[in-house]
Amino acid sequence: MRIYFDHNATTPVDPAVVETMTAVLRDDYGNASSVHHFGQQAKARLDDARSAVGTLIGAEASELVFTGGGTEADNFAIRGVAEALEPTGRRHLIASAIEHEAVLNTLKALARRGWRTTLLPLDASGIVDPERLEGVLTDDTALVSVMHANNEIGTIQPIAELARIAHARGTLFHTDAVQSVAKIPVDVAALGVDLLSLSAHKFNGPKGVGALWIKRGTRITATMTGGKHERNRRAGTENVPAIAGLGVAAARARTKLAAEGQRLAALRDRLERSVIERVPGTAVNGAPEPRVPNTTNISVDGVEAESLLIALDLEGIAVSTGSACSSGTLEPSHVLRAMGLPSHRTQNSIRISLGAGNTDAEVDLFLEKLPGIVTKLRSLTRVAR
Ligand SMILES: Cc1ncc(COP(=O)(O)O)c(C=O)c1O
Repeated sequence: MRIYFDHNATTPVDPAVVETMTAVLRDDYGNASSVHHFGQQAKARLDDARSAVGTLIGAEASELVFTGGGTEADNFAIRGVAEALEPTGRRHLIASAIEHEAVLNTLKALARRGWRTTLLPLDASGIVDPERLEGVLTDDTALVSVMHANNEIGTIQPIAELARIAHARGTLFHTDAVQSVAKIPVDVAALGVDLLSLSAHKFNGPKGVGALWIKRGTRITATMTGGKHERNRRAGTENVPAIAGLGVAAARARTKLAAEGQRLAALRDRLERSVIERVPGTAVNGAPEPRVPNTTNISVDGVEAESLLIALDLEGIAVSTGSACSSGTLEPSHVLRAMGLPSHRTQNSIRISLGAGNTDAEVDLFLEKLPGIVTKLRSLTRVAR
Protein backbone atom coordinates (compact mmCIF):
# COMPACT_ATOMS: atom_id res chain seq x y z
CA MET A 1 0.00 0.00 0.00
CA ARG A 2 1.33 3.42 -0.94
CA ILE A 3 0.29 6.53 0.93
CA TYR A 4 0.24 9.94 -0.74
CA PHE A 5 0.67 12.84 1.70
CA ASP A 6 1.92 15.43 -0.80
CA HIS A 7 -1.24 17.08 -2.08
CA ASN A 8 0.24 20.60 -2.01
CA ALA A 9 2.70 19.45 -4.69
CA THR A 10 -0.11 18.04 -6.81
CA THR A 11 -3.23 15.94 -6.47
CA PRO A 12 -4.55 12.79 -8.17
CA VAL A 13 -6.98 13.62 -10.96
CA ASP A 14 -10.63 13.05 -10.04
CA PRO A 15 -12.14 10.23 -12.20
CA ALA A 16 -15.02 12.55 -13.19
CA VAL A 17 -12.40 15.00 -14.51
CA VAL A 18 -10.71 12.23 -16.51
CA GLU A 19 -14.08 11.20 -17.94
CA THR A 20 -14.93 14.72 -19.10
CA MET A 21 -11.46 15.38 -20.47
CA THR A 22 -11.52 12.12 -22.40
CA ALA A 23 -14.91 12.94 -23.89
CA VAL A 24 -13.74 16.43 -24.90
CA LEU A 25 -10.51 15.12 -26.43
CA ARG A 26 -12.45 12.54 -28.39
CA ASP A 27 -15.57 14.43 -29.41
CA ASP A 28 -15.19 18.19 -28.95
CA TYR A 29 -12.06 18.76 -30.94
CA GLY A 30 -13.18 22.00 -32.58
CA ASN A 31 -11.26 25.24 -32.22
CA ALA A 32 -13.27 27.35 -29.77
CA SER A 33 -12.77 30.40 -32.04
CA SER A 34 -14.40 28.68 -35.05
CA VAL A 35 -17.88 29.80 -36.04
CA HIS A 36 -19.16 26.38 -37.12
CA HIS A 37 -20.79 23.69 -35.00
CA PHE A 38 -17.50 22.08 -33.93
CA GLY A 39 -16.13 25.40 -32.75
CA GLN A 40 -19.31 26.24 -30.87
CA GLN A 41 -19.24 22.87 -29.13
CA ALA A 42 -15.70 23.59 -27.91
CA LYS A 43 -16.71 27.12 -26.91
CA ALA A 44 -19.61 25.72 -24.88
CA ARG A 45 -17.06 23.64 -22.94
CA LEU A 46 -15.06 26.79 -22.19
CA ASP A 47 -18.22 28.65 -21.12
CA ASP A 48 -19.23 25.84 -18.75
CA ALA A 49 -15.76 25.77 -17.20
CA ARG A 50 -15.66 29.56 -16.87
CA SER A 51 -18.98 29.55 -15.00
CA ALA A 52 -17.90 26.71 -12.71
CA VAL A 53 -14.64 28.44 -11.76
CA GLY A 54 -16.47 31.76 -11.36
CA THR A 55 -19.02 30.16 -9.03
CA LEU A 56 -16.25 28.59 -6.94
CA ILE A 57 -14.57 31.95 -6.24
CA GLY A 58 -17.59 34.29 -6.39
CA ALA A 59 -16.41 35.87 -9.63
CA GLU A 60 -18.10 36.81 -12.85
CA ALA A 61 -17.20 34.30 -15.53
CA SER A 62 -16.18 37.04 -17.98
CA GLU A 63 -13.49 38.24 -15.57
CA LEU A 64 -11.60 34.93 -15.74
CA VAL A 65 -8.71 34.29 -18.11
CA PHE A 66 -7.58 30.69 -18.54
CA THR A 67 -3.83 30.19 -18.32
CA GLY A 68 -1.33 27.37 -18.51
CA GLY A 69 -1.37 26.99 -14.70
CA GLY A 70 -0.60 28.93 -11.54
CA THR A 71 2.88 30.03 -12.60
CA GLU A 72 1.54 31.65 -15.75
CA ALA A 73 -1.32 33.30 -13.84
CA ASP A 74 1.20 34.82 -11.37
CA ASN A 75 3.47 35.97 -14.20
CA PHE A 76 0.56 37.49 -16.09
CA ALA A 77 -0.73 39.35 -13.02
CA ILE A 78 2.65 40.85 -12.08
CA ARG A 79 4.19 41.47 -15.49
CA GLY A 80 0.86 42.56 -16.98
CA VAL A 81 0.18 45.17 -14.27
CA ALA A 82 3.83 46.31 -14.30
CA GLU A 83 3.68 46.91 -18.04
CA ALA A 84 0.31 48.64 -17.90
CA LEU A 85 1.34 50.95 -15.08
CA GLU A 86 4.89 51.75 -16.24
CA PRO A 87 3.77 54.91 -18.08
CA THR A 88 2.22 56.25 -14.85
CA GLY A 89 5.66 56.37 -13.23
CA ARG A 90 4.85 53.69 -10.69
CA ARG A 91 8.00 51.54 -10.57
CA HIS A 92 7.77 49.67 -7.26
CA LEU A 93 6.49 46.17 -6.48
CA ILE A 94 5.91 44.52 -3.09
CA ALA A 95 5.50 40.83 -2.25
CA SER A 96 5.83 38.78 0.91
CA ALA A 97 9.11 36.95 1.49
CA ILE A 98 7.28 33.60 1.57
CA GLU A 99 5.72 33.75 -1.89
CA HIS A 100 6.08 30.88 -4.34
CA GLU A 101 8.99 31.11 -6.79
CA ALA A 102 6.47 32.01 -9.51
CA VAL A 103 6.07 35.37 -7.77
CA LEU A 104 9.55 35.81 -6.27
CA ASN A 105 11.42 35.11 -9.50
CA THR A 106 9.06 37.31 -11.50
CA LEU A 107 9.88 40.18 -9.15
CA LYS A 108 13.58 39.40 -9.56
CA ALA A 109 13.21 39.51 -13.35
CA LEU A 110 11.49 42.90 -13.16
CA ALA A 111 14.15 44.17 -10.73
CA ARG A 112 16.73 43.47 -13.44
CA ARG A 113 14.71 45.78 -15.68
CA GLY A 114 14.82 48.66 -13.21
CA TRP A 115 11.81 48.00 -10.98
CA ARG A 116 12.29 48.53 -7.24
CA THR A 117 11.07 45.54 -5.29
CA THR A 118 10.42 45.03 -1.59
CA LEU A 119 9.87 41.72 0.18
CA LEU A 120 7.77 41.92 3.33
CA PRO A 121 9.52 40.20 6.23
CA LEU A 122 7.61 37.86 8.53
CA ASP A 123 7.96 36.48 12.01
CA ALA A 124 7.79 32.84 13.12
CA SER A 125 3.99 32.85 12.78
CA GLY A 126 4.34 32.89 8.99
CA ILE A 127 1.67 35.57 8.78
CA VAL A 128 2.25 39.00 7.22
CA ASP A 129 1.77 41.88 9.64
CA PRO A 130 -0.42 44.53 7.91
CA GLU A 131 1.56 47.30 9.61
CA ARG A 132 4.67 46.14 7.78
CA LEU A 133 2.88 46.64 4.48
CA GLU A 134 1.79 50.11 5.51
CA GLY A 135 5.42 50.90 6.30
CA VAL A 136 6.82 49.99 2.87
CA LEU A 137 4.05 51.20 0.53
CA THR A 138 4.99 54.32 -1.41
CA ASP A 139 3.17 56.54 -3.87
CA ASP A 140 4.94 54.76 -6.70
CA THR A 141 4.01 51.19 -5.67
CA ALA A 142 2.21 49.63 -8.63
CA LEU A 143 1.27 46.25 -7.16
CA VAL A 144 1.32 44.26 -3.95
CA SER A 145 1.31 40.47 -4.30
CA VAL A 146 0.68 38.37 -1.19
CA MET A 147 -0.35 34.73 -1.37
CA HIS A 148 -3.63 33.66 0.23
CA ALA A 149 -2.32 30.39 1.73
CA ASN A 150 1.30 29.35 1.90
CA ASN A 151 2.22 26.12 0.11
CA GLU A 152 4.78 24.95 2.71
CA ILE A 153 3.19 25.78 6.06
CA GLY A 154 -0.44 26.42 5.09
CA THR A 155 -0.86 29.75 6.91
CA ILE A 156 -3.60 32.03 5.61
CA GLN A 157 -2.77 35.70 5.15
CA PRO A 158 -5.07 38.60 6.14
CA ILE A 159 -5.67 39.41 2.48
CA ALA A 160 -8.75 41.64 2.91
CA GLU A 161 -6.88 43.91 5.33
CA LEU A 162 -3.71 43.97 3.23
CA ALA A 163 -5.72 44.79 0.08
CA ARG A 164 -7.48 47.65 1.88
CA ILE A 165 -4.13 49.12 2.90
CA ALA A 166 -2.75 48.85 -0.65
CA HIS A 167 -5.87 50.40 -2.18
CA ALA A 168 -5.65 53.36 0.20
CA ARG A 169 -2.40 54.24 -1.62
CA GLY A 170 -3.88 53.64 -5.06
CA THR A 171 -1.95 50.37 -5.39
CA LEU A 172 -3.34 47.24 -7.06
CA PHE A 173 -3.44 43.95 -5.14
CA HIS A 174 -2.82 40.41 -6.43
CA THR A 175 -3.16 37.22 -4.44
CA ASP A 176 -1.78 33.84 -5.41
CA ALA A 177 -4.63 31.63 -4.23
CA VAL A 178 -3.22 28.44 -5.76
CA GLN A 179 -3.10 26.76 -2.33
CA SER A 180 -6.37 28.10 -0.92
CA VAL A 181 -8.90 27.66 -3.74
CA ALA A 182 -10.94 24.49 -3.12
CA LYS A 183 -9.41 24.06 0.36
CA ILE A 184 -11.22 26.95 2.07
CA PRO A 185 -14.01 29.25 0.86
CA VAL A 186 -12.51 31.85 -1.48
CA ASP A 187 -14.60 34.84 -2.51
CA VAL A 188 -12.98 37.55 -4.59
CA ALA A 189 -15.34 40.24 -3.32
CA ALA A 190 -14.75 39.35 0.35
CA LEU A 191 -10.98 39.32 -0.24
CA GLY A 192 -11.22 42.72 -1.94
CA VAL A 193 -8.37 41.95 -4.35
CA ASP A 194 -7.92 43.01 -7.99
CA LEU A 195 -6.29 39.85 -9.31
CA LEU A 196 -6.29 36.22 -8.12
CA SER A 197 -4.39 33.18 -9.44
CA LEU A 198 -5.52 29.57 -9.23
CA SER A 199 -4.31 26.23 -10.58
CA ALA A 200 -6.35 23.10 -11.42
CA HIS A 201 -3.83 20.44 -10.41
CA LYS A 202 -3.95 21.51 -6.77
CA PHE A 203 -7.60 20.44 -6.55
CA ASN A 204 -7.86 17.18 -8.46
CA GLY A 205 -7.82 18.77 -11.89
CA PRO A 206 -5.21 18.38 -14.65
CA LYS A 207 -1.75 19.96 -14.68
CA GLY A 208 -0.88 22.86 -16.95
CA VAL A 209 -4.14 24.75 -16.63
CA GLY A 210 -5.28 27.49 -14.28
CA ALA A 211 -6.82 30.91 -14.35
CA LEU A 212 -6.21 34.52 -13.49
CA TRP A 213 -9.23 36.41 -12.22
CA ILE A 214 -9.01 40.07 -13.19
CA LYS A 215 -11.48 42.44 -11.60
CA ARG A 216 -13.31 44.42 -14.27
CA GLY A 217 -11.52 47.71 -15.01
CA THR A 218 -8.10 46.60 -13.69
CA ARG A 219 -5.26 48.01 -15.78
CA ILE A 220 -3.29 45.08 -17.17
CA THR A 221 -1.46 44.42 -20.44
CA ALA A 222 -1.59 40.98 -22.08
CA THR A 223 1.78 39.28 -21.78
CA MET A 224 0.98 36.59 -24.33
CA THR A 225 0.35 38.35 -27.64
CA GLY A 226 -1.23 36.85 -30.73
CA GLY A 227 -4.88 36.23 -31.58
CA LYS A 228 -7.93 37.63 -29.84
CA HIS A 229 -8.53 34.68 -27.49
CA GLU A 230 -9.75 35.20 -23.94
CA ARG A 231 -11.07 38.68 -24.80
CA ASN A 232 -7.66 39.80 -26.00
CA ARG A 233 -6.07 38.98 -22.66
CA ARG A 234 -4.28 35.68 -23.39
CA ALA A 235 -3.55 34.72 -26.96
CA GLY A 236 -3.34 31.11 -28.09
CA THR A 237 -5.87 28.43 -28.99
CA GLU A 238 -7.49 27.34 -25.74
CA ASN A 239 -6.62 23.94 -24.29
CA VAL A 240 -10.26 22.89 -24.25
CA PRO A 241 -9.88 19.41 -22.66
CA ALA A 242 -7.74 20.78 -19.82
CA ILE A 243 -10.02 23.76 -19.26
CA ALA A 244 -13.07 21.47 -19.22
CA GLY A 245 -11.21 19.37 -16.62
CA LEU A 246 -10.56 22.48 -14.54
CA GLY A 247 -14.29 23.26 -14.71
CA VAL A 248 -15.32 19.83 -13.46
CA ALA A 249 -12.71 19.94 -10.69
CA ALA A 250 -14.00 23.37 -9.63
CA ALA A 251 -17.65 22.26 -9.62
CA ARG A 252 -16.84 19.15 -7.60
CA ALA A 253 -14.65 21.03 -5.16
CA ARG A 254 -17.47 23.45 -4.43
CA THR A 255 -19.95 20.75 -3.46
CA LYS A 256 -17.42 19.01 -1.17
CA LEU A 257 -15.67 22.05 0.26
CA ALA A 258 -17.20 22.35 3.74
CA ALA A 259 -17.36 18.65 4.61
CA GLU A 260 -13.94 17.85 3.16
CA GLY A 261 -12.37 20.81 4.96
CA GLN A 262 -13.67 19.53 8.29
CA ARG A 263 -12.61 15.97 7.58
CA LEU A 264 -9.08 16.95 6.57
CA ALA A 265 -8.64 19.34 9.50
CA ALA A 266 -9.57 16.55 11.92
CA LEU A 267 -7.14 14.13 10.23
CA ARG A 268 -4.35 16.73 10.07
CA ASP A 269 -4.85 17.81 13.70
CA ARG A 270 -4.75 14.24 14.95
CA LEU A 271 -1.64 13.48 12.91
CA GLU A 272 0.10 16.62 14.10
CA ARG A 273 -0.83 16.16 17.77
CA SER A 274 0.24 12.52 17.76
CA VAL A 275 3.61 13.26 16.11
CA ILE A 276 4.39 15.89 18.74
CA GLU A 277 3.37 13.48 21.53
CA ARG A 278 5.12 10.37 20.22
CA VAL A 279 8.32 11.81 18.74
CA PRO A 280 10.42 13.92 21.08
CA GLY A 281 12.19 16.91 19.52
CA THR A 282 9.43 17.76 17.06
CA ALA A 283 7.73 21.11 16.52
CA VAL A 284 5.11 22.52 14.18
CA ASN A 285 6.26 25.42 12.00
CA GLY A 286 4.05 28.47 11.61
CA ALA A 287 0.91 29.56 13.40
CA PRO A 288 -1.64 26.77 13.90
CA GLU A 289 -4.41 29.17 12.90
CA PRO A 290 -5.47 30.47 10.49
CA ARG A 291 -4.26 27.63 8.29
CA VAL A 292 -5.65 25.62 5.38
CA PRO A 293 -7.05 22.36 6.81
CA ASN A 294 -4.82 19.89 4.96
CA THR A 295 -1.29 21.12 5.69
CA THR A 296 1.25 20.72 8.45
CA ASN A 297 4.97 21.41 8.49
CA ILE A 298 6.96 19.69 11.22
CA SER A 299 10.61 19.99 12.23
CA VAL A 300 12.30 16.88 13.57
CA ASP A 301 15.45 17.68 15.55
CA GLY A 302 18.58 15.74 14.65
CA VAL A 303 17.20 14.33 11.39
CA GLU A 304 18.01 15.62 7.90
CA ALA A 305 14.71 16.21 6.14
CA GLU A 306 15.87 14.55 2.90
CA SER A 307 16.88 11.38 4.79
CA LEU A 308 13.51 11.28 6.52
CA LEU A 309 11.70 11.76 3.21
CA ILE A 310 13.63 8.88 1.64
CA ALA A 311 13.13 6.61 4.65
CA LEU A 312 9.39 7.29 4.61
CA ASP A 313 9.28 6.71 0.85
CA LEU A 314 10.93 3.31 1.36
CA GLU A 315 8.00 2.51 3.67
CA GLY A 316 5.59 3.63 0.94
CA ILE A 317 4.74 7.03 2.41
CA ALA A 318 5.19 10.15 0.26
CA VAL A 319 5.78 13.47 2.05
CA SER A 320 7.92 16.42 1.00
CA THR A 321 10.52 18.80 2.31
CA GLY A 322 8.65 21.92 1.30
CA SER A 323 7.87 23.08 -2.17
CA ALA A 324 8.17 20.48 -4.96
CA CYS A 325 9.68 23.17 -7.17
CA SER A 326 12.70 23.57 -4.90
CA SER A 327 13.10 19.94 -3.88
CA GLY A 328 16.30 18.27 -4.96
CA THR A 329 18.24 21.45 -4.23
CA LEU A 330 18.96 20.64 -0.55
CA GLU A 331 18.58 24.39 0.03
CA PRO A 332 16.80 25.15 3.28
CA SER A 333 13.25 26.38 2.69
CA HIS A 334 13.11 30.11 1.89
CA VAL A 335 9.77 30.19 3.71
CA LEU A 336 11.12 28.87 7.02
CA ARG A 337 14.23 31.05 6.69
CA ALA A 338 12.11 34.15 6.09
CA MET A 339 10.23 33.30 9.29
CA GLY A 340 13.54 33.52 11.15
CA LEU A 341 13.65 29.87 12.22
CA PRO A 342 17.08 28.56 13.25
CA SER A 343 18.92 26.32 10.78
CA HIS A 344 18.20 23.12 12.73
CA ARG A 345 14.51 23.85 12.14
CA THR A 346 14.77 24.97 8.49
CA GLN A 347 16.83 21.93 7.46
CA ASN A 348 14.91 19.33 9.40
CA SER A 349 11.36 20.00 8.37
CA ILE A 350 8.89 17.95 6.40
CA ARG A 351 5.57 19.00 4.89
CA ILE A 352 2.61 16.70 5.11
CA SER A 353 -0.31 17.76 2.93
CA LEU A 354 -3.46 15.66 2.96
CA GLY A 355 -6.15 15.32 0.33
CA ALA A 356 -9.28 13.64 -0.94
CA GLY A 357 -8.15 10.00 -0.80
CA ASN A 358 -6.49 10.07 2.62
CA THR A 359 -8.00 8.07 5.47
CA ASP A 360 -7.68 7.53 9.22
CA ALA A 361 -6.01 4.19 8.54
CA GLU A 362 -3.28 5.92 6.52
CA VAL A 363 -2.64 8.40 9.29
CA ASP A 364 -2.45 5.49 11.75
CA LEU A 365 0.12 3.71 9.59
CA PHE A 366 2.22 6.87 9.31
CA LEU A 367 2.09 7.35 13.09
CA GLU A 368 3.10 3.73 13.60
CA LYS A 369 6.13 4.00 11.28
CA LEU A 370 7.46 7.47 12.05
CA PRO A 371 8.86 7.06 15.61
CA GLY A 372 11.01 4.04 14.66
CA ILE A 373 12.33 5.74 11.51
CA VAL A 374 13.27 8.88 13.46
CA THR A 375 15.03 6.87 16.19
CA LYS A 376 17.01 4.95 13.57
CA LEU A 377 18.00 8.08 11.62
CA ARG A 378 19.04 9.84 14.82
CA SER A 379 21.25 6.95 15.84
CA LEU A 380 22.87 6.89 12.39
CA THR A 381 23.51 10.65 12.58
CA ARG A 382 25.14 10.21 15.98
CA VAL A 383 27.39 7.41 14.68
CA ALA A 384 28.35 9.56 11.68
CA ARG A 385 29.42 12.32 14.02
C1 LIG B 1 1.47 28.94 -4.00
C2 LIG B 1 1.73 28.44 -5.36
N1 LIG B 1 1.76 29.31 -6.38
C3 LIG B 1 1.98 28.91 -7.64
C4 LIG B 1 2.23 27.61 -7.94
C5 LIG B 1 2.49 27.21 -9.36
O1 LIG B 1 1.37 26.63 -9.94
P1 LIG B 1 1.56 25.66 -11.22
O2 LIG B 1 2.22 24.43 -10.72
O3 LIG B 1 0.16 25.44 -11.70
O4 LIG B 1 2.37 26.41 -12.21
C6 LIG B 1 2.22 26.66 -6.90
C7 LIG B 1 2.50 25.22 -7.20
O5 LIG B 1 3.40 24.64 -6.69
C8 LIG B 1 1.97 27.09 -5.58
O6 LIG B 1 1.96 26.24 -4.57
